[in-house]
Amino acid sequence: MIFVTGGAGFIGANFVLRWLAQHAEPVVVIDKLTYAGNRENLAAVDGDPRFHFHCLDINDRQAVAALLARHRPRALVHFAAESHVDRSIHGPGEFVRTNINGTFELLEAARAYWSNASATERAAFRFLHVSTDEVYGTLDATDPAFTESTPYAPNSPYAASKAASDHLVRAYHHTYGLPTLTGNCSNNYGPFQFPEKLIPLMTLNALDGKSLPVYGDGRNVRDWLYVTDHCDALQCILAAGRPGETYNIGGRSEKRNIEVVQSICSLLDELRPKPSGRYAEQIEFVADRPGHDRRYAIDAGKIERELGWTPRETFETGLRRTVLWYLENADWVARVRDGRYHSWIETHYGNGRRGQEGVQ
Ligand code: NAD
Ligand code: TYD
Repeated sequence: MIFVTGGAGFIGANFVLRWLAQHAEPVVVIDKLTYAGNRENLAAVDGDPRFHFHCLDINDRQAVAALLARHRPRALVHFAAESHVDRSIHGPGEFVRTNINGTFELLEAARAYWSNASATERAAFRFLHVSTDEVYGTLDATDPAFTESTPYAPNSPYAASKAASDHLVRAYHHTYGLPTLTGNCSNNYGPFQFPEKLIPLMTLNALDGKSLPVYGDGRNVRDWLYVTDHCDALQCILAAGRPGETYNIGGRSEKRNIEVVQSICSLLDELRPKPSGRYAEQIEFVADRPGHDRRYAIDAGKIERELGWTPRETFETGLRRTVLWYLENADWVARVRDGRYHSWIETHYGNGRRGQEGVQ
């Protein structure tokens, strides 16, 4: 079986649902259920005997160690993190606690488990760390894309905390021989993304008739990858990645923010036309994010060459799927927005199930 931290968040939930649809192998999810963790994201696999959920902070080394000893996973896929740049600017402390200290505690639990495992278990074990392209800093318009050897130059507290976690993972391989793997991925989008990030925020604000707040001049560039393509890349890395290596993952899909917002508006004009006017009329340029990175671009040549991974979705097909998902899942959106998702487990299962799940 495999362990997944942060499996109730956006990418983690997509990964778990996809894993259980494609593999017979069970999954144990560890998630603290912060504001970004939504137990409802995993509702489709509730009752599946291969799925186990534990509400747990990755900083709780003893509890994580006890679960590792009990389930004896062959791999640990580490998604759990504070993930939003704007939140890291307003309150960096939680980013240090979860992304740096939490990764450290998790590495220590994994190292103890792995050190005491049998030779066969030790050889098979993998610690797959899910990270971001933001650790490399910012690019000018004509700079070449980030490769795995681009020096780290994180600019936001979020990026710095992820960079620190990447360094710890690297050191645990170099010093202790822990079989680690790291993926550094560009911006993801798709179902279940919390509506604080650009694509769901703009989609839902547009539908609500609210302003679409584009930071600065709107010409900052991000590379976009549909979430299931990221999940597939992680599966490739887990299956065939070389321990100690890092792999850049991206969609070869660089877009200016204003282009992304305009594309969302055009899709909504087609799929949910307003009685009068166009959604793009709601676009508003607002004050820039402090320290806003100008451009990210990923050279995904290594994972393409070595592991044969390529993205299946284009930005156009992925964005259409995403906008349709938000249109078709208005109940999920409503529960996330009014906070009802926090009480989802109690509403659906009552206290008995809560106890079994280890929800604290
Ligand atoms: P998310 O914010 O949607 O989900 C994070 C999950 O981690 C939540 O379920 C939350 O409850 C859980 N969590 C937070 N702190 C925890 C703790 N201390 N202990 C246990 N669980 C905790 O994030 P996401 O967008 O799904 O990102 C997942 C991972 O992928 C992160 O490590 C992020 O840095 C990385 N990543 C994200 C993107 C992106 O575009 N979203 C791109 C590249 C890499
Ligand atoms: P975001 O989704 O927060 O991801 P990240 O900062 O990790 O790349 O933002 C994506 C881009 O969109 C980023 O350049 C900031 C910009 N942005 C806006 O212009 N307005 C917004 O309201 C948000 C949330 C982001």
